[in-house]
Amino acid sequence: MRLNACLAAMPGGYLFGEIGRRVRAYEPGAPRPIIHLGIGDVSQPLAPAITEAFVRAAREMGTPQGFHGYPPEQGYPFLRQAIVDADYAPLGVRLDPDEVFVSDGAKTDTSALPELLAPDARVAVTDPVYPAYVDANAMAGRLGRHENGEWSDLVLLPCHPGNGFVPELPGRQVDLLYLCYPNNPTGTVLTRAQLARFVEYALETRTLILFDAAYKAYITDPAIPRSIYEIPGAQQVAVECCSFSKSAGFTGMRCAYTIVPKALTGEVDGRSVSLNALWARRVACRQNGVAYPIQRAAAAALSPEGRAQVDAQVRAYLDNAHRIVRTLQGAGLEVFGGIHAPYVWLRTPEGHSSWDFFDLLLHEAQVVATPGSGFGPAGEGHLRLTAFNSAERTQEALDRILAVLR
Ligand code: MLT
Repeated sequence: MRLNACLAAMPGGYLFGEIGRRVRAYEPGAPRPIIHLGIGDVSQPLAPAITEAFVRAAREMGTPQGFHGYPPEQGYPFLRQAIVDADYAPLGVRLDPDEVFVSDGAKTDTSALPELLAPDARVAVTDPVYPAYVDANAMAGRLGRHENGEWSDLVLLPCHPGNGFVPELPGRQVDLLYLCYPNNPTGTVLTRAQLARFVEYALETRTLILFDAAYKAYITDPAIPRSIYEIPGAQQVAVECCSFSKSAGFTGMRCAYTIVPKALTGEVDGRSVSLNALWARRVACRQNGVAYPIQRAAAAALSPEGRAQVDAQVRAYLDNAHRIVRTLQGAGLEVFGGIHAPYVWLRTPEGHSSWDFFDLLLHEAQVVATPGSGFGPAGEGHLRLTAFNSAERTQEALDRILAVLR
């Protein structure tokens, strides 16, 4: 039996798996309960409008009239229409429900979308970056060899305080450029002009942008684009991945969606081919969609009542993020992001690598963070904190971190 050599050659474990391993090894002897500001998992319960819709739909499934078998692979029309009306129309973005593909997660889609491209397509990512983008392409054999912590064929676009966390355009031709804004892990955002530069570049070079907008609910300034489609021309070059996980507390429910515009085309043997048609074909073969009660729950999150409830949850997480930024800046740390994002990015104190500082906080403060180096070479010397815990536990974590820093 010949196995996938690229998968077998993958370095180390998946970042959040390795963090979980270290926490499990330490936890039994810990002097007090551990506080988790590591993986971006939400802590507030589902909002009432969502729970009601979920339960109602589950009950329907137990009746002869309300039973639903296989869902449509691309998502129920009621949810795709709600996404078009509630998420895009208010931004002035016109989409057809056939351009919306409902799935079980943005991680699933951001990992799978490169299947649209040639097997040897060249990929660019910002550095630091959400590791699933890189791992998925490495497993598919697109990234070459892994040497000295880097992939030989991956184009890295470093983001650091020196460039204001705004990546340079790729210095060589790439087929696929991943952008995630508000950014995971740095919590920074792009202005309209900065995002427009990437769209212009993609139009000129025929590059596909995979825009991960999983954290768009955290943008409170209308001058900052929530969707790449707010930029003219973007429907010709970008797919956009969105999720109910961080906006409506769906990390355990699993529901997300990807927009593949009909205006988006690529080439196969000199022929122009629609990416929407290719993705529809791929989805029909590979998945059976998302359960009916989950899709009803997701649609409820987009209703006026549900929207008001989930907006209040997002505001509470943003309050945590702002508190983390204020407190750690007050303690003299260099802190970034956390204003329009649930992630705060900080430089580790002098002499500490990312993993050293992670271990120090785990062992001395019993606080779990995420080491910046896990997101790529430019993340070394940094740490990410999430704002997804409760206000009380976030404050308690900050008090403990301050005590360690003193
Ligand atoms: C993160 O912590 O980066 C995210 O929660 C991971 C994810 O969304 O899969």
